[in-house]
Amino acid sequence: MRLILSLVGLGLLLAACDTGTEERNAVASTRTVQRPYQALPPGTVARGTAARQAALEPPGPEPTPQLLARGEERFRVFCSPCHGISGRGDGTVVSRGFAPPPSYHEERLRGLTPEQIVQVITHGKGRMFPYADRVPPEERWAIAHHVKRLQERDADAPEASEAGTP
Ligand code: HEC
Repeated sequence: MRLILSLVGLGLLLAACDTGTEERNAVASTRTVQRPYQALPPGTVARGTAARQAALEPPGPEPTPQLLARGEERFRVFCSPCHGISGRGDGTVVSRGFAPPPSYHEERLRGLTPEQIVQVITHGKGRMFPYADRVPPEERWAIAHHVKRLQERDADAPEASEAGTP
């Protein structure tokens, strides 16, 4: 009887282990999305820093068709999960309970310059995490110009709306 009880106990323990592992994986993948900007570890030779800083100075790279295409692609990867494909703040993360961001089509956000959008990507804002560790400077400009284009497009078609699935 004792043996059976301990076997059952062991089985329960092992089952518990399995569940634990699955949960940790789920949490870990969420953290990848929400990881805040991490400073360089001490001792890192900051070789590209000046160049990176210069790359953030306005006016940034020329918004060529290639840059805009890259911006759209990167926006869909990094921003649309919350902001939605058309920037209305209706991305899939929001539908799962994350605080909804304001629509890019609100008057105040329409007034943002590409430089200010680059700043938000670099430093985050309020509940939004910074994306400096995942989006290099040129792509920040590309995304910022794409956001400006979304805002212009919306002015032409105010009723258009899509769900924000990347
Ligand atoms: C995890 C969800 C999430 C992601 C991903 C995200 N944002 Fe945000 N964003 C927010 C939230 C929430 C706010 C509102 C922040 C606040 O005011 O507290 C916001 C605000 C903003 C604003 C408005 C800032 C202002 O002046 O009020 C801009 C611009 C912006 N985000 C751009 C971006 C860009 C570009 C990306 C992609 C690189 C991005 N966001 C990715 C959640 C997100």
